[in-house]
Amino acid sequence: MVPLKRRKLSGIVSDTETTVKFPHVVIFLLERKMGASRRAFLSQLARKKGFQVEDYFSDSVTHVISENNTGDMVKMWLDMQQKDRANKTVNLDISWFTESMRAGCPVEILDKHKLQEVENEGESVEFLMPSYACQRRTSLDSHNSIFTDALSFLAENAELNNEDGRAVAFRRAIAVLKALPVKVTSMTQLRGLPCVGEHSQKVIKDIIENGASSEVESTIHTERFKALKLLTGIFGVGSKTADRWFKTGIQNLTQLANSGNDLNRAQRAGLEHYYDLNQPVTKAEAETIGDIVKKAVLDVLPGSEITLTGGFRRGKITGHDVDFLITHPDEGKEVGLMPKVVSWLTARGVLLYQKTTRNSYLEKEEGPAQPPSNMDRFERCLSIFKLEEKEMGPDKKWRAVRVDLVVSPISQFAFAVLGWTGSKLFERELRRWAGQVKSMSLSSHALFDNKQCKYLKATSEEEIFAHLGLEFIPPSERNA
Ligand code: CTP
Ligand code: MN
Ligand code: MN
Repeated sequence: MVPLKRRKLSGIVSDTETTVKFPHVVIFLLERKMGASRRAFLSQLARKKGFQVEDYFSDSVTHVISENNTGDMVKMWLDMQQKDRANKTVNLDISWFTESMRAGCPVEILDKHKLQEVENEGESVEFLMPSYACQRRTSLDSHNSIFTDALSFLAENAELNNEDGRAVAFRRAIAVLKALPVKVTSMTQLRGLPCVGEHSQKVIKDIIENGASSEVESTIHTERFKALKLLTGIFGVGSKTADRWFKTGIQNLTQLANSGNDLNRAQRAGLEHYYDLNQPVTKAEAETIGDIVKKAVLDVLPGSEITLTGGFRRGKITGHDVDFLITHPDEGKEVGLMPKVVSWLTARGVLLYQKTTRNSYLEKEEGPAQPPSNMDRFERCLSIFKLEEKEMGPDKKWRAVRVDLVVSPISQFAFAVLGWTGSKLFERELRRWAGQVKSMSLSSHALFDNKQCKYLKATSEEEIFAHLGLEFIPPSERNA
């Protein structure tokens, strides 16, 4: 017997299957200040009366309805959703909506229905630029790359110096600048923005006033930076190893090769294919590799599903590697898949290097260990593919490409896709939001609610965002 409450709810849901009576009116209700439950209620009401109501803002929306918001605010919010918004919407107060509901049709738009243009700066900043990157949309086209390039350089330099806290601070500031709908031309525009600390502000000021950051200029040419950058460019070499080598006087690849240092298997492969692995991988190359992976996986386990993740799923046109997630619709069928895929690829001479790690994830009844590890425990294979290329000239017939393969059971698939789509900062912010705001632990395997002491299941990314109380952000807008 279904509990009464549930039956009632499902009744409402099925009622939404109504016909559209007014095709020229496509309504979007702004959740801000209205609240999620009132928004849901009003949406249902309008749909019942034959109005078309969109859950997500898109180009097809004609009427934007909001409650207790100013015109400026709504306009800025809309600009944030789509930077180059072509068609204009009519932005109306809730009064137009309620009158239309009463009349049973869209009423004539009068002046009193139009939003007032009242400045309310302090409030608008917080609304437009919420402080967690996972609350914002960040597309690939940024208006502020002269600032973000400089700050990315400083973040990278901090990472090379093992100053991770400082690096993350820079990365958060970068993400805020990337999400801004306008180009910054004066320091006053930064007022009230979250995450842009003193240091980042100093860099931005320097660039506005002098056209370049003196800190970047003075770091970029140092022997130390040049050497660490070069050495960490070797696959398998992290900042700690590079620093250790630099301290013994190693500054370039020849010195490293002659140094007598013992390199591990990954580093030897990294050194051997140094040039190729530092060439960006193109979308076309990613697709060719995708075809090979698909063939291998389907050959060893028919019915498997292969998903391109990482930067390419976010719409990037190049990447430093290609990332794939593999699953099978029957839970358990995926066990032991990776070694078979690796054998298949090895037999055909596709792999220049591979290191496979077994799945070590165990779902504990009492929840994940605290703090939850950032590393996931899927069966995975970090590899270097030998990619045959036709257009490489007479003497070079192939190039080396880094490829990451990950296998996930179908029950964890939504979490795995979300976790492997990135960007790295977006993922970090999702976990921070989950922990700090929702008292939940998010990983690439599961979501655990610490208050209810239970795992929250999900079969899609949309459901995970909903569990987290976040608006759904599509992959192309996760480029934080
Ligand atoms: N990732 C992970 N565990 C790792 C390595 C990566 O969960 N040990 C996740 C990262 O958090 C990221 C995604 O896998 O979300 C892709 O990582 P990576 O390939 O390093 O970055 P991309 O965003 O794909 O950037 P690029 O295009 O340069 O490859
Ligand atoms: Mn990648
Ligand atoms: Mn990767």
